[in-house]
Amino acid sequence: MSYDSALTALSIDALKFVKNNFVIGLGSGRASTSLVKSLASLINEKKYNIKGVPTSLQIKLIAEKVGISIVEFDQVDHIDVVFDGADQIDSQKFVIKGGGGALLRENILFSIAKKIVIMADKTKFVKNFTRTVPVEVHPLARNLVSNEISKLKGKTILRSLDRGYPFFTENGNIILDCDFGIIKNPKLLSQKIKQIPGVMESGIFIRKPDIIYKAKTGGKFEII
Ligand code: A5P
Repeated sequence: MSYDSALTALSIDALKFVKNNFVIGLGSGRASTSLVKSLASLINEKKYNIKGVPTSLQIKLIAEKVGISIVEFDQVDHIDVVFDGADQIDSQKFVIKGGGGALLRENILFSIAKKIVIMADKTKFVKNFTRTVPVEVHPLARNLVSNEISKLKGKTILRSLDRGYPFFTENGNIILDCDFGIIKNPKLLSQKIKQIPGVMESGIFIRKPDIIYKAKTGGKFEII
């Protein structure tokens, strides 16, 4: 089932959160790609002065291609709004991110953004989290972190590329995808994961989004 038309429609609607002179955090993945394309049309049409702060090379390349001015995070002192996708959203509105490996930069932007807008298709919405939690880890701490995750009743899998090579994030770290089964207390679990030495980021984000878009079939969407 494709949600592309709904993602396009909601990304146009989400432009109502954009004003001239905004510094905008650009998340990573398909939903963010859709948003970036719509944002470029708005900038063109209204001649807005917008700066985009990318969370990954993936979105930076798209933003460059459609002509959005890019500035890196260490060059700005605020983010007016960040638009991003999600891998899962639970009924308390916590999100799991990091399916594409960009969780560290995404969470940094989330932490200072004045507003967070999440865009995801309806398959990502669950009562309690069921999917694996991406955890970004310093490569030398992989066994330490794996053992500590086991004590939290999680099973870890080293994220790999085709042919078995480990996946490295843009920060030179590895990802352990951690299976905790059904997660009933995501906030507590994320706090415990982040206390493990060598963990650079947990894919369960503590800060909840301000606005959540749900893409549905037939090009429809709703705001939660
Ligand atoms: C990147 O690491 C992720 O957090 C993405 O934002 C997330 O995987 C959502 O991606 P899609 O919009 O492609 O589903």
